[in-house]
Amino acid sequence: MDLATTYLGLPLKHPLIASSSPLTAELDSLRRLEDAGAAAVVLPSIFEEQIDYEAAEVERLTNVGIDSSSEATSYFPTGAGFAAAPHRYLRLISRARDALEIPVIASLNGTTNHGWTDYARQIQQAGASALELNTFFVPVDAALDGGAVEQRHVDVLRAVKRAVTLPVAMKLSPYFSAPADMARQLDRSGADALVLFNRFYQPDIDLATMQLRRDLDLSTPAEIRLPLLWISVLAGHLRGSLAAATGVENAEQVVKYLLAGADVVMTTSALLRHGPDHMRALVNGLTEWLEARNIAAIGDVRGRMSRGRLGEPVAFERANYISILHGWPTGGGWL
Ligand SMILES: Cc1cc2nc3c(=O)[nH]c(=O)nc-3n(C[C@H](O)[C@H](O)[C@H](O)COP(=O)(O)O)c2cc1C
Repeated sequence: MDLATTYLGLPLKHPLIASSSPLTAELDSLRRLEDAGAAAVVLPSIFEEQIDYEAAEVERLTNVGIDSSSEATSYFPTGAGFAAAPHRYLRLISRARDALEIPVIASLNGTTNHGWTDYARQIQQAGASALELNTFFVPVDAALDGGAVEQRHVDVLRAVKRAVTLPVAMKLSPYFSAPADMARQLDRSGADALVLFNRFYQPDIDLATMQLRRDLDLSTPAEIRLPLLWISVLAGHLRGSLAAATGVENAEQVVKYLLAGADVVMTTSALLRHGPDHMRALVNGLTEWLEARNIAAIGDVRGRMSRGRLGEPVAFERANYISILHGWPTGGGWL
């Protein structure tokens, strides 16, 4: 069975990657992920605010204050730990690099193209195999139009690409008015992969306490449909690789993402829910699915159900929606 694939130009033994999370923040759990068969790991993100904070501390000590952060800095944690994070992060990269045989992908989370992007160079020097850029940006400012938001993504990518020779992946949100065009712009601007999609933190309201609930829910397989749609649409149209990144619980979702056209499939929630050994169950489940159908290589399934290869492109479009409503058992007769 040939499960080998290529992602960001890196040869991988199979397409399953542990995405960025607290599980990839410690050497112990990184080793457990590798032992359980992960083909690569993405480290947790280091945030632009942490890099800026460290730089500001250095400036403060030399009596020149700066606050270059784009959001209200009072909401961010402060103190020695926050300031030291950029150094600790580089150490994590080099220790992970020494301890693991599989590729170690670092993750930078930022939304501006200011000086912090130089830190990418230090990530490269620390030994990362590649870099994932997470542009977690919530455009709450109504004066900011869609074009400016898109340009921000392109600018951050270009600034980081200028700083490194490493392959760079962009972890994107689905909230663009034209996701396919955004993907193409980033692909043309040098993105070596797109990771679809970032899962935004969104607060809830606790009715008992009348406070905001600031927490992260783990994902469910129902969430694969949005990334599945856009991977199907984009497969075969980009120079770079495509990574699927949400809602994997078992091998079924892995197979669906590959059929849609993903080069690799990432998982976090399932690993947090079941532990790092769950990676083995995913790889075994994928192998069994292929064996049961006498499929010898992963390349024989990849993209087989993509929009371009299906032969019925409208299946992904508006016309299909109307047809589903028309056939709805009750109440579709008005169409
Ligand atoms: C507790 C937790 C921490 C996370 N930390 C990061 C992070 O630092 N950087 C990042 O890009 N994504 C982070 N993510 C997002 C995951 O990498 C992943 O994209 C997301 O959970 C969707 O994948 P899943 O459906 O398999 O969970 C985090 C997710 C969770 C649940």
